[in-house]
Amino acid sequence: MRVLITGRRGQLGRALVDWGKRAGWHVFAYDLPGLDITRLGNVQEAVRTVQPDLIFNAAAFTAVDRAESEPEQAFAVNARGVAHLAQAADEVGALLVHVSTDYVFDGTSHRPYHEEDPPHPLSVYGRSKLEGERAATQARRHLVVRTSWLFGRGWNFVEAIRKQINQGATELRVVADQTGKPTYAEDLAEALVRLVTLGAQGLLHVANAGVTTWAGFAEEIVRQLGLSLPVVPITTPQAGRPAPRPAYSVLDTSRFEKLCGPLPTWQDALSRYLRAHTP
Ligand SMILES: NC(=O)c1ccc[n+]([C@@H]2O[C@H](COP(=O)([O-])OP(=O)(O)OC[C@H]3O[C@@H](n4cnc5c(N)ncnc54)[C@H](OP(=O)(O)O)[C@@H]3O)[C@@H](O)[C@H]2O)c1
Repeated sequence: MRVLITGRRGQLGRALVDWGKRAGWHVFAYDLPGLDITRLGNVQEAVRTVQPDLIFNAAAFTAVDRAESEPEQAFAVNARGVAHLAQAADEVGALLVHVSTDYVFDGTSHRPYHEEDPPHPLSVYGRSKLEGERAATQARRHLVVRTSWLFGRGWNFVEAIRKQINQGATELRVVADQTGKPTYAEDLAEALVRLVTLGAQGLLHVANAGVTTWAGFAEEIVRQLGLSLPVVPITTPQAGRPAPRPAYSVLDTSRFEKLCGPLPTWQDALSRYLRAHTP
């Protein structure tokens, strides 16, 4: 199987390259500046050269706060870039696998979000990703996977906490009124490869098992690092971030679990991440 991966230097992109190769796939992986998904000609040229059976889109504008002040770039990458991939996928009959986010929801639900729940994004990033989902579904053969609170090889929440610790913080002030499911990019990439192998198409939610807040996530990081730093819970307004975020964005993953079984808990994923990323 010939597989084209975009955004190969991102958290998910790096994991996908490895899991794709482990599956015995012939992987062709690109990132900026070699392949810029905002440029249709660039995408078509890569797709015509590689002639993939499968296109994995791991490229995205993921700076949630910066998207508020750079909406054009967010939509160019997260929406129009995906439309380009869908068009190019159809030109060669490839399956398009696209990744989206829990931030397409507004967080007012009191139970985990199903795939069919109406999206209502609060932020520019969320709106651009929702438009990207719709663009991906224009491909004749597509799989759109929503995930949440991703951590992997790259800059992420775990590293942000670790940086504060390394800089000598005596306490960590972390948002405690947002609830979601942290997800390890390696587990997500493995799940995506399995879904493709099973022939899955349509819309699916995939995340590690278990639910927490950012403050709970930080407490577990501190605990697993063997430290005893206090985590001081703060509110979203106290954090003063430019982009609004859903208060509750837990994804219901039961449709995925019927196909593949549950992913490991986020605590288990975190311990594997820390083992792999602690010098
Ligand atoms: N991170 C999260 O917490 C999270 C949560 C839910 C869903 N997701 C979704 O999961 C997917 C993977 O996220 P991630 O955290 O792995 O993202 P990431 O680490 O930010 O990686 C995204 C990659 O895309 C590249 N890229 C940006 N603009 C591009 C363009 N125009 N053409 C080609 N490549 C471009 C980036 O390159 P540069 O670094 O050079 O810009 C980067 O290598 C995304 O669809 C994201 O929306 C992420």
